Amino acid sequence: MKILLEHIDKPGIQSIDGYIKNGGYRSVEKALKQLSPDQLVEEVKTSGLRGRGGAGFPTGMKWSFLDKKSDKPKYLVCNADESEPGTFKDRYLMEHIPHLLIEGMIVSSFALTAKTSYIYVRGEMMYIIRILEKAIAEAYAKGYLGKNILGSGYDLDLYVQAGGGAYICGEETALLESLEGKRGNPRNKPPFPAVWGLYGCPTVVNNVETIAAVPWIVNNGGAAYAGIGIGKSTGTKLISACGNINKPGVYEIELGLPVEEFIYSETYCGGIANGRELKAVVAGGSSVPILPKNLILKTANQDARLMSYESLSDGGFISGTMLGSGGFIVFDDQSCIVRNLWNFTRFYHHESCGQCSPCREGTGWMEKVLHRIEHGHGKLTDIDLLVDVAKKIEGKTICPLGEAAAWPVASAIRHFRDEFEAHVRNPESCNARHLHFETAMSH
Ligand SMILES: Cc1cc2nc3c(=O)[nH]c(=O)nc-3n(C[C@H](O)[C@H](O)[C@H](O)COP(=O)(O)O)c2cc1C
Repeated sequence: MKILLEHIDKPGIQSIDGYIKNGGYRSVEKALKQLSPDQLVEEVKTSGLRGRGGAGFPTGMKWSFLDKKSDKPKYLVCNADESEPGTFKDRYLMEHIPHLLIEGMIVSSFALTAKTSYIYVRGEMMYIIRILEKAIAEAYAKGYLGKNILGSGYDLDLYVQAGGGAYICGEETALLESLEGKRGNPRNKPPFPAVWGLYGCPTVVNNVETIAAVPWIVNNGGAAYAGIGIGKSTGTKLISACGNINKPGVYEIELGLPVEEFIYSETYCGGIANGRELKAVVAGGSSVPILPKNLILKTANQDARLMSYESLSDGGFISGTMLGSGGFIVFDDQSCIVRNLWNFTRFYHHESCGQCSPCREGTGWMEKVLHRIEHGHGKLTDIDLLVDVAKKIEGKTICPLGEAAAWPVASAIRHFRDEFEAHVRNPESCNARHLHFETAMSH
């Protein structure tokens, strides 16, 4: 079942003519001429679509929180900052089928009564910014953007903004600060963006993939979308798969696919590279807890773990994880959990904005302690020290970057304590290679 990538390989799909030839922009006609903004919000609620940026918050519900009665302008801001290590699905969509996002932005902006909208793109992805700007110019030329779109009386201007070049700018309130021209520091909440967002006006921030799903929902109906997937995990999800697998890449899966099938099927990851064994998976980008093999595979005592919000989080943080952004990193039996955790932690220390002391200081301490364990100077007491620091960051920061840094540490030690102890007792025992995955360390 393909919703987002159905037409990705069609010749000329990057251009507006190729896109229209394959059924593109139909949802704009339908939404602007046949439906009211409130009907569109209801349709998205019915679909059960959940935010694809990481938190999985129901999109229709978020839209319904927008303070439409306010006499201030309303804004839709698309979060295309995509800097979470292991996550590279939004850029794939924007590169190969940019008009899908623009179509989604038009229909979603209409639903939210926004007359000005923004796509905030990670600053390093200049090639994507150029692709989007070209596509937006084409959409203006065809009358899908600008004044009186398709004679409907609805006006919309759409702008692309280059991001500030920091992971924290992907956090929605830091993004809004950055879009306003300030340093990208997260805001205290409440008030939430739906009430006090861009320039103090009601604003919705949604991920690229979330917005790209809206045209299909408008064309086919929310109920049809809700019929795809499993339980409260409706529809499809893009997964960027990397690490020790035979076929790294971006895949669209129907939610509910068994994790095991995703890893071993030739349609997706094609199994573990070099004939090795699976050790663990980080299923939703570097911020989510790591899951060891025994908590993924079907056993006599355990059902198969599914690619869904509910199944992946089953067991909470003791024996579960999160679907997150869909950045799926696979570790084989030779990869070193300690080394990779040190790498993740270096990233979070580098990217902490420094506003909250627990995150600013704690990420640095965790990095230092992990560095000494990895480099053969660790003590056994360091392992519990790491757990203690992680606990003291969690829940004590303005934004969830604190949790993003703490959860990988706490979960890696919970599931792989013996590896940490082995690094302390006999540092030479680790012959692991360094996993190559997408990192977003900004400079
Ligand atoms: C440190 C940090 C970085 C984030 N980076 C991104 C990002 O690059 N893209 C994204 O869509 N959401 C990111 N998020 C989540 C956003 O704050 C927000 O939840 C999301 O854009 C909402 O869109 P959705 O409801 O469509 O998922 C990040 C959150 C945090 C805490």
